[in-house]
Amino acid sequence: MILAAALCTLSAAAQPKLAGNNIDEVLKAMTLEEKATLLVGGGWGSMTAGSMTASNESLVPGAAGTTRAIPRLGIPNTVVADGPAGLRINPNRPGASQTYYCTGFPVGTAIASSWNVNLVKDMTTAMGNEVLEYGVDVLLAPGMNIHRNPLCGRNFEYFSEDPVLSGNISAAYVNGVQSNGVGVSIKHYAANNQETNRNENDARISARALREIYLKNFEIAVRKGQPWTVMSSYNKINGEFTQQSYGLLTSILRNDFGFNGIVMTDWGSKAGTVTAVNAGNDLMEPGADAEIERIIAGVKDGSISQADLDRNVRNMLKYIVETPRFKGYKYSDKPDLKAHAKVARAAATESMVLLKNDGVLPLKDVKKVALYGISAIDFVAGGTGSGNVNKAYTVNMKEGLEHAGFELPKELMDYYEQYISYDKAQMALNGTSGQAGILLGQKKYAEIPVSRTAIDRQAKAYDVAVVVIGRNSGEAADRRVDNDFNLTDVERQLIGDVCDAFHLAGKKAVVVLNVGGAVETASWKSVPDAILCAWQPGQEGGDAVTDVLTGKVNPSGKLPMTLPLAFTQHPSSANFPYADYVAPGRNTFGFSTRSRGPRKDIDYTDYAEGIWVGYRWFDTKGIEVSYPFGYGLSYTQFTYSKPVVKADKNGGFTASVTVTNSGKVAGKEAVQLYVSAPSGGLEKPAKELKAFAKTKLLAPGESQTLVMEVSAYELASFNENAGRWETAAGSYTVNFASNVADVRCSAPFVLKAQKTFSVDDPKACAPKE
Ligand code: BGC
Repeated sequence: MILAAALCTLSAAAQPKLAGNNIDEVLKAMTLEEKATLLVGGGWGSMTAGSMTASNESLVPGAAGTTRAIPRLGIPNTVVADGPAGLRINPNRPGASQTYYCTGFPVGTAIASSWNVNLVKDMTTAMGNEVLEYGVDVLLAPGMNIHRNPLCGRNFEYFSEDPVLSGNISAAYVNGVQSNGVGVSIKHYAANNQETNRNENDARISARALREIYLKNFEIAVRKGQPWTVMSSYNKINGEFTQQSYGLLTSILRNDFGFNGIVMTDWGSKAGTVTAVNAGNDLMEPGADAEIERIIAGVKDGSISQADLDRNVRNMLKYIVETPRFKGYKYSDKPDLKAHAKVARAAATESMVLLKNDGVLPLKDVKKVALYGISAIDFVAGGTGSGNVNKAYTVNMKEGLEHAGFELPKELMDYYEQYISYDKAQMALNGTSGQAGILLGQKKYAEIPVSRTAIDRQAKAYDVAVVVIGRNSGEAADRRVDNDFNLTDVERQLIGDVCDAFHLAGKKAVVVLNVGGAVETASWKSVPDAILCAWQPGQEGGDAVTDVLTGKVNPSGKLPMTLPLAFTQHPSSANFPYADYVAPGRNTFGFSTRSRGPRKDIDYTDYAEGIWVGYRWFDTKGIEVSYPFGYGLSYTQFTYSKPVVKADKNGGFTASVTVTNSGKVAGKEAVQLYVSAPSGGLEKPAKELKAFAKTKLLAPGESQTLVMEVSAYELASFNENAGRWETAAGSYTVNFASNVADVRCSAPFVLKAQKTFSVDDPKACAPKE
């Protein structure tokens, strides 16, 4: 008895407690069960606030997930929560009078439109402070899949059709959030470019397109941001679930890109846990006990090696010791939401894209604004699902214009407000919630007609018209062509009638697009006098739009995607699920409820367009579009001069150009550097974005020289046959452009001898022969 007690005390005393510098010691002390436990999250919770939340609600209610604690070894739980436009947690807690709102920042597509990495970093520094102060360790963001097709339901969370813009905005985002001592999870790695059947869809992609387009942005984010975590996606690539692909998670992510954090799954529970562990997927989220059992069994039967198990556990321990929760940070639950609201407003204004302006903006001598569109009231701050933020309020367009002192037509505002109230009352009466689906969020009100008689009256009495067109989308469903990408008949009628009536009265009309992604513009853009694409600009949206309409802020956003003439112009549209499709026997999540054969665009999607995504296709083929990639007007003009391109020792170059504000008001200009490659190497797009830079606010007459660096590796293309990156020798043209179709000046760059760059495994994640 005495001996047993003594041994017990001894072994208890010998148990190390995780301390930051004793990871190997702790790893050694862990049992197999404990190791398996650490690789599996704390479990499924409830569906609240528009998405899944962790079962361990006591830590941070409304957070998406946790990691499990092992108190014996001093290993705490950690908490991970969405999402890209701001922290998503429950705003209320039972029995508590305090609220836990977070700031709703502009969505991903919006901030990419700023083309300003400093602005993005400032914004996400504020966002990360809320993560820290609400007791969360990792923000499940940014979302950074490529806009392969305009209809992807989550494009609003993502940045761009171009990997260099996406990757650099993402790196800035990561650096901003992580400067708070909390982590991010860049997602969804990779090729999660459609929501339809997202859980099982097999993205069939050539190795070249995969590495140059769909992984390049992740590579840039990893190299320049060193995110703490990466979230593997739901889908497959070339037949393998991404979370179970050694090629994707270890060869490419760790060995090629140099990632050294943890990989966690997207929220689900796939069979194949053993393969996921071996592939280098460290953490299963949100975690199920069955996954722990599978890992234990896998180690016992040898299908998981001790070395692979320990590799993942070590990654987890290295992550945990960095977290605020491990460090015992005393969070306040009181971030400075007022200060962050100002940051959100500034980011929103700089992200808006002025598409057209026939002399109406900024508004001058205007006191009375006739404001149209149900979205003026039912304004969309951000998208739905896990990309939603539980914010304290949203400033809509009516409020924004009123804050600035404009007079609006009361009867028209009443008409919209009472319509919405009536609908809400009717839902209450019927006991329905207005939720379009578990993940789809609150329904978006479709446009309602306004009679021409009313519009004619308003055209007489008001100085200018503003029509707001709104769109919302989110997780679990893709957008549709009719009545979504294309405007509805009621919207067309409204724009047509308002513009006609105001023009007849000698007045002007402006359309504001409150959208998360591309919409059709070609068929109606000639009708209004100005079009401002405001995106989904976050909770301060109405004030931010007003700042731009009045000229308080000069717009400087530029499109992060092409606006085509028609949806079908995109080569990817031939292989995208754009029918209003929910397969029989399946729900909107795409979870399978019966077995069936593989169906095109649902069970598999051929990325037959290869690298010809977005402007790479339109620009190379000389196809007319509605607005080109990188397009955006200003209230001033800029001239470009003195382009200089200097070769460096390593086969790259440093480029500079001087930008002068040649107009009458202060403004900022985003300069885009596109490279045209010599012939002789692989087939290349006519131009590819390789770098970009934005000026500070330039006063009229003021100049600034922007400097951009491009390495030989960044100029390379992936040669599938040789299994390596190659930068062709020859004469390159370095184009300095205001948008892809507007090159202002250029300079040559000569590479004397070809450069090559090897990869860990050329066949990693490639299509099987
Ligand atoms: C989404 C992720 C999100 C996770 C946790 C999933 O459905 O795809 O983006 O982070 O839920 O809420």
